[in-house]
Amino acid sequence: MSLKALLNKIVSGAGGDGSDSANMDDKNVMEATWDGYARCNAAFYIATEGKPLDEEFQWDMEKFFSQGREELLGILRRFGFSPESLGDSRVVEIGCGIGRQTHALAELASSVVACDISEEMLRQAKEHLAGIDNVEFFKSSGSDLAPVESNSVDLVYSFVVFQHITDKELTRSYFAEASRVLKLGARFLFQVKDLGGASKSPDVWHGSDISEKDIRGWSADLGFRIDHMFGHKTHYLWACLTKV
Ligand SMILES: C[S@@+](CC[C@H](N)C(=O)[O-])C[C@H]1O[C@@H](n2cnc3c(N)ncnc32)[C@H](O)[C@@H]1O
Repeated sequence: MSLKALLNKIVSGAGGDGSDSANMDDKNVMEATWDGYARCNAAFYIATEGKPLDEEFQWDMEKFFSQGREELLGILRRFGFSPESLGDSRVVEIGCGIGRQTHALAELASSVVACDISEEMLRQAKEHLAGIDNVEFFKSSGSDLAPVESNSVDLVYSFVVFQHITDKELTRSYFAEASRVLKLGARFLFQVKDLGGASKSPDVWHGSDISEKDIRGWSADLGFRIDHMFGHKTHYLWACLTKV
C-alpha cells in the first residue's frame, strides 16, 4: 500500500467525509481519529524515531517495543530516576497507545494503570500485554483520570500524547488530575510540544502547543514544584514536577 493510500484509509476510518466530525466536540474527534489510526496501523502512528518498516509500512513489533523501552529508560536516566527507584511504585500512564512503553513501565514498577482515549488502542494494548498481570487499563474521557483514587500514585507519566490534544485546556485538566491522584512528594513526568503553535486546533495530529510559561503557571496553580525542565521551544519539552 502506498503512503497516500494509507493516509486515505486513515481519513476514512477516522471521520468519514469530514462532515460529521465538523459537529463533534474535541474529545469525540480525538477519539474517532485515534480509533481510526489504530485500526489502520497503530504502530505507524505511534513510533517516534527510526523506520524499521516494510513496504506495507508495518513495524517489526519487537523493534517497536524495544524502542519504547529504550526511550523510557533514556528519559528516566536523564531525570535521575534509577530503574530500581520505581520498584515499589504505582504508576499512571496517560495515553498508553498499544502499550509500547507500558510494557517497560510494568517491568520496573509494582503496578501500572494505563489509559487512552481510544478503545481500539486499548484493545490492542491488552492483546500485546496479555499475561502481564501488574497492568490495568481504562478508557479515558480525554481529559481526566476519574477511576484513579486521589493521593494514591507515585508517578504519572506521559509521552507524545499532550502534543496531540486539540485544546490546551484539556491538557491542563490532565495536569489537575495528575495533582489529584499523586501522593505528596510524588512526580509527574511528561513531554509536551513547545513550538509556539496554536493553543486550540481542530487538527488532532498537530494538536496544541504548551509553553514553558503554561507549565510554570499551571504548576503554581496546581501545587507542583518544577524540578527539571528541558527542551524549551522544541517538539520535546520535557518536565518533571513534584506534588508539594
Ligand atoms: C503517538 S501515540 C503515543 C502512545 C504512547 N504514549 C507511546 O509513546 O507509545 C498517542 C496516544 O495518545 C492517545 N491520546 C490522544 N489524545 C488523548 C487524550 N485526550 N487522552 C488520552 N489519550 C489520548 C492516542 O489514542 C494514542 O494512543
